[in-house]
Amino acid sequence: MPLTVQVIQVDPIHPDPECIRPAARALQQGKLVAFPTETVYGLGADALNRSAVARIFEAKGRPSYDPLIVHLAGAAWLERAAAVVPPLALRLAESFWPGPLTLILAKRPEIPDLVTSGLDTVAVRVPDHPVALALLEAADVLVAAPSANRFGRTSPTRASHVLADLEGRIDVLVDGGETRIGIESTVLDLSGTRPTILRPGGVTREQLMEVLGDVAVRAVHSAGGPQSSPGTLRKHYSPRAVLYYFTEPEREKALAGMRQLIEEAVQSGKRVGLLILEEDRPVFDDLPVVTASLGSARNLWQAARRLYAGMRSLDEQQVDVIFVRDLGTDGPGLALRDRLQRAASKLIP
Ligand code: TXA
Ligand code: MG
Repeated sequence: MPLTVQVIQVDPIHPDPECIRPAARALQQGKLVAFPTETVYGLGADALNRSAVARIFEAKGRPSYDPLIVHLAGAAWLERAAAVVPPLALRLAESFWPGPLTLILAKRPEIPDLVTSGLDTVAVRVPDHPVALALLEAADVLVAAPSANRFGRTSPTRASHVLADLEGRIDVLVDGGETRIGIESTVLDLSGTRPTILRPGGVTREQLMEVLGDVAVRAVHSAGGPQSSPGTLRKHYSPRAVLYYFTEPEREKALAGMRQLIEEAVQSGKRVGLLILEEDRPVFDDLPVVTASLGSARNLWQAARRLYAGMRSLDEQQVDVIFVRDLGTDGPGLALRDRLQRAASKLIP
């Protein structure tokens, strides 16, 4: 593993091909290259190079049973990864690519088992970021890329987050500034009889419904449901601090409950952090808490963009506990709920 990472600064909107070239060459040589997408930073390697892909798992500390997304420069590359391209996939590609939608399709035999964790399907997407697209085109290789964080941690939305997690473990970091969407792509399984969302993300269920008419959602955890008792969650996307997630949908009730537990935490000497909407902040103005803003309730996309950076900034300020409440299911709300459920140490009904 390299001791130092080569950091390349690029203009996120008009990336200079001269700057992209060394990163593209590194991919061709089987090296690990972190790069920005519109969702989060990815940790890329040549998907057809087994040892390069093995290094992704090693660098992240990721278990090999968790398959990777293969990034394409355009829908024209679909045949390089998928054995069959159903008309539905083309329709979705036309509507949402480049963009935060990952499709699960039957895989071509050339795609290594390591990429797909032995499944006969492959996850593919075309990222909507000029830097990612320029890199894919210049390298002309399929790029397997999970989010560029250590396994279990929050996904990186800035180059500094990538360095904090992976410095000394990767070869190149292409710094294209802050990512626009801030949460990961929607993973949609097209390999079965009914299109099914496996992970809600940057393309909403409503948007998919417009094209598909029908789409199922695989429930990971339902808020407040029976699986939501502490200790039964699949922890992921987590800050270091203990995260208390208030699932109560009614704002006043949730805020009252939060206030009570926050007062108790403060009294017991805990350093308290809040991930909070601007509209909710005044409720806690008189308490000694550290806050990270999720923006206004009127635009949950802002909350999506700020979620992971907010968790990281509260961790940096060494809070012991983080409090956050459910933000509903409109637009990116479903994806936010999914991430909060996984990040939470404790679900508060
Ligand atoms: O926005 C994103 O999707 C980012 C950027 C870098 O593209 N990538 C990302 O990758 O979030 P990762 O590895 O953190 O998450 C990939 C998800 C995992 O939940 C994985 O289980 C699922 O995609 N996945 C990959 N291949 C699959 C397959 N063949 N079948 C079902 N799920 C799959
Ligand atoms: Mg990830």
